[in-house]
Amino acid sequence: MYTQSLDVPDASAPALAAVPSAPDALQTRFDEKIDADQKIEPQDWMPEAYRRTLVRQISQHAHSEIIGMQPEGQWISRAPSLKRKAILLAKVQDEGGHGLYLYSAAETLGTSRDQLLDALHTSKAKYSSIFNYPTLQWADVGVIGWLVDGAAIMNQVPLCRCSYGPYARAMIRICKEESFHQRQGFESLMVQMQGTPEQRAMVQDAVNRWWWPVLAMFGPPDADSTHGAQGMRWGIKRISNDDLRQKFVDATVPQAAVLGVTLPDPDLKWNDERQQHSYGAIDWDDFWAVVGGNGPCNKERLANRVKAHEDGQWVRDAAQAYAAKQQARLLKEAA
Ligand SMILES: [Fe+2]
Ligand SMILES: [Fe+2]
Repeated sequence: MYTQSLDVPDASAPALAAVPSAPDALQTRFDEKIDADQKIEPQDWMPEAYRRTLVRQISQHAHSEIIGMQPEGQWISRAPSLKRKAILLAKVQDEGGHGLYLYSAAETLGTSRDQLLDALHTSKAKYSSIFNYPTLQWADVGVIGWLVDGAAIMNQVPLCRCSYGPYARAMIRICKEESFHQRQGFESLMVQMQGTPEQRAMVQDAVNRWWWPVLAMFGPPDADSTHGAQGMRWGIKRISNDDLRQKFVDATVPQAAVLGVTLPDPDLKWNDERQQHSYGAIDWDDFWAVVGGNGPCNKERLANRVKAHEDGQWVRDAAQAYAAKQQARLLKEAA
């Protein structure tokens, strides 16, 4: 589901300045395609820096989808009704599917699934920092759907027009599913807000804890963004971090009013001159601490992921043994 603006440097990504320059004719053809808003496909020539940027962004996105299964997955066995359990199961399963489409899209750029997962498991690759916060009570699940998936939609709808064909096409399907995720979260919170005072307090508590990390999900301010301008030039990024964050705030304030919750920002108010909301200062020190591995759940999330991968080794072994047997049978029949 989720990207944070996905321009956070990875330890696995070499500096773009080190990338050799391209043959002129190929570069010109590439630039013309980008300028004409045509898609770049896997078989097309592309600058090495463009390829590396996409591998970093798409893989960070894929990692975010599968790590993002954990905070909500922990509530599947504790969902308060069969209906909520079925919805949550479907949502968490969708996120796993999003990870799979995105790993496949990254593989079209010449990297292997093993390389991508190895970078995640050895902390060389990043994933969205939002998943390093804990889900302390049931209302957190609704708030993740409403706010985290809501923020992801803002980020991801422009990616449906991304210049790299396989990524853009994967995003179209993903965005349809993200809309369901956002709606189920909002609907769950609506029901809780019509319940007891304790239920309403739980929703407000969850909103208080998630609001600021969600705003940080859009990534650093434009002035400090590492890859923003180049991403725009290449048609990978269409709208800046600050503009997406503003759109999200403006869309969310009326939804909070419908729900009857307070967004925890005393500086949040309508600015008549700008025709948009002003909001308070984001704690970027906290954001960078979490990106750097020191959030409340970083270690737990990664340890769970590595364990799940190791526990699944027998499945991969069995699939490969089966494929080898099939291949041997085909060869025998052909002989
Ligand atoms: Fe997703
Ligand atoms: Fe989602």
